[in-house]
Amino acid sequence: MNAYVSGLSYYVPEEVLTNAYFESYLDTSDEWITQRTGIKERRRSAEGENTSDMGKIAAERAIEASGVSKEDIELVICATATPDMPFPSAACLIGAKLGLKGVPAFDLAAGCTGFVYGLAVASSFVRSGVYRNVLVIGAERLTKIIDFEDRSTCVLFGDGAGAAVVSATDEDRGILGFKLHADGSYGELLYLPARGTAIDLTPEVLEKKLHFTKMKGNELFKIAVREMANVSLELLEELGIDREQIDWLIPHQANIRIISTLAKRLGIPMDKVIVNIDRYGNTSAASIPIALGEALEEGRVKRGDNLLLVAFGAGLTWGAMFIKW
Ligand code: ACO
Repeated sequence: MNAYVSGLSYYVPEEVLTNAYFESYLDTSDEWITQRTGIKERRRSAEGENTSDMGKIAAERAIEASGVSKEDIELVICATATPDMPFPSAACLIGAKLGLKGVPAFDLAAGCTGFVYGLAVASSFVRSGVYRNVLVIGAERLTKIIDFEDRSTCVLFGDGAGAAVVSATDEDRGILGFKLHADGSYGELLYLPARGTAIDLTPEVLEKKLHFTKMKGNELFKIAVREMANVSLELLEELGIDREQIDWLIPHQANIRIISTLAKRLGIPMDKVIVNIDRYGNTSAASIPIALGEALEEGRVKRGDNLLLVAFGAGLTWGAMFIKW
């Protein structure tokens, strides 16, 4: 039994924040943001448009694309670092919004690697015969956890959601391998200090803005490139696949310089790399399904193509996945 993605889609909110928006009130420029990150614009959710709302729309679209009936979904996994609230989970809220009564649901916290982790969990349930159809969502409302006065983070992130239905198949295709890693000793390179139980939300904590994302971008950059390349090569070697056999590299969209350095290290030309960071920025767990969703819409990714998904994020976590589409 193999597990394949029977349907995949995405949703991005309407409001577009261009680099000019940040130029209007911060000491930054379109030139700096474009050259250092590749980002031209990103999306921001509307007031009251929560992570679960975006996730629900992406999920509905993925279910429709899959041809699987809603009643046949047996598990819901939502990869997110920005659930509506600590509990109930975003997965439970999405399940309720979809009318999936009694269907198990849980959130998965693996930062920007969340969607790859989620597909890995889903495919393991499917391959072991426990479930036949698992809904995996990556949904983020990152604009709620960044300090819009901190130019080193606020220009990078955006909101959005993607979703996939992972289903059983007898065919020789689908999610044919993955490698996941984490190293919590790097945790403070990218963290959100005061949204959990560690720090009480006192006026001093709010004043210090500890309820917003803290990031050491430069150090992350180097580790991201190194580990995404290593895990990709580790996976391809284990599967006995040459890099020339990869039709599409679909990396987490954090920085165009990370993506192009990674592609170079892997020996994959940029015309085989799916990039949409210019329009959405870094949407964390939603970035890979949004990129893949667009590539499917545009007819670039086709049935039978060999895809290499690779991601890196808070934790630190990283992972790669090989899919025969
Ligand atoms: N506009 C203008 N100047 C800026 C801005 C800005 N928006 N942001 C930072 N700068 C300044 C800095 O203050 C610094 O100035 P200084 O030299 O006077 O101190 C200068 O630019 C260089 O700063 P660096 O941080 O060294 O710039 P760098 O080239 O590393 O780019 C960036 C920063 C874009 C954050 C980059 O390091 C990066 O993308 N890192 C990876 C981040 C990442 O991937 N995070 C997420 C990973 S996991 C996940 O996706 C959640």
